[in-house]
Amino acid sequence: MLLLTGATGLVGSALLRRLTAAREPVRCLVRDPRRLGPERVRVQIALGDLSDPPSFRNALRGVDTVVHLAAAIRDQPHGSIEELNGIATWRMVEAAERAGVERFVFFSALSASAHNRTRFLRAKALAEEAVRASSIAHTVFAPSIIYAPGDPYLTLLSRLALLPLMPISGSGRAQFQPIWAHDVADCVMAALDAGAGERYELAGPETLSHREIVELALRSQHRHRRLVHVPTPIVSRTLRVLEALMKSKAPATWDEAELLEVSLLSERGTADAQRLGVEPSYMAAVLGAP
Ligand SMILES: NC(=O)c1ccc[n+]([C@@H]2O[C@H](COP(=O)([O-])OP(=O)(O)OC[C@H]3O[C@@H](n4cnc5c(N)ncnc54)[C@H](OP(=O)(O)O)[C@@H]3O)[C@@H](O)[C@H]2O)c1
Repeated sequence: MLLLTGATGLVGSALLRRLTAAREPVRCLVRDPRRLGPERVRVQIALGDLSDPPSFRNALRGVDTVVHLAAAIRDQPHGSIEELNGIATWRMVEAAERAGVERFVFFSALSASAHNRTRFLRAKALAEEAVRASSIAHTVFAPSIIYAPGDPYLTLLSRLALLPLMPISGSGRAQFQPIWAHDVADCVMAALDAGAGERYELAGPETLSHREIVELALRSQHRHRRLVHVPTPIVSRTLRVLEALMKSKAPATWDEAELLEVSLLSERGTADAQRLGVEPSYMAAVLGAP
């Protein structure tokens, strides 16, 4: 039995379809099973929450492999970014050790470090440390930015594109190697067949700045907009006020915007994905941008 967390997310939904097609017995730890869509009838469901570590124990019963994708880039009512990414992963690994799990697959991120300026990448570094320190055979993925058509960030950009000018947070100079969620899911499937103990950096085939990603997203929607850079202190103050007023309904938070200020680059480029037999797609091709 494989326990998949984050099955309703970008990578998780693509991965779940591959696992059920391969007839792998899967259990999904989810907050709301309805968000699994049609796949929910093909899997076992364990209701659980990253902010509720006791829920991990039931979910792990009889499990030999854990693929831990669930993560949060904004604070939630019952858990901070640090609790949901750092402490929850540590508790998940501990619970998996106690349950006799044989293999733990974890998603960290490129640039995760205890000294990173963002709370999310600091929490991921601590989470990765907990996975590495465990006695369970593990595989770590460190991706650059992951995207799929209609994902929350591209949806936000398409809404902003309705404005006469396209606002862009900060300088837009941070660099990324965007990788399609489906390519990431293919990498995970290949890694499950390979041995444990590896750390794969997942990057797409080209390096794009934040500004170039916004331009590409606009092209894919056949919209021409002048980009206006909004200074970081203004973005930060505005988004903090918006989050205080709208809570979890805020369309964007400063913690999310700040992540776009940090480059996520792998010196190895697509080499690790290729080692897993995956040739990552170009973002323009996936989004149908001219
Ligand atoms: N996307 C990127 O650019 C990127 C970059 C670097 C690393 N990563 C890492 O790669 C992995 C997969 O990313 P992704 O883009 O597929 O993530 P995603 O689309 O944001 O999905 C997050 C998943 O976590 C679940 N989740 C959130 N809060 C939870 C909670 N309190 N309890 C239980 N589940 C919770 C969500 O479930 P609900 O449906 O209940 O919300 C969802 O299934 C993550 O670990 C992420 O941190 C992603």
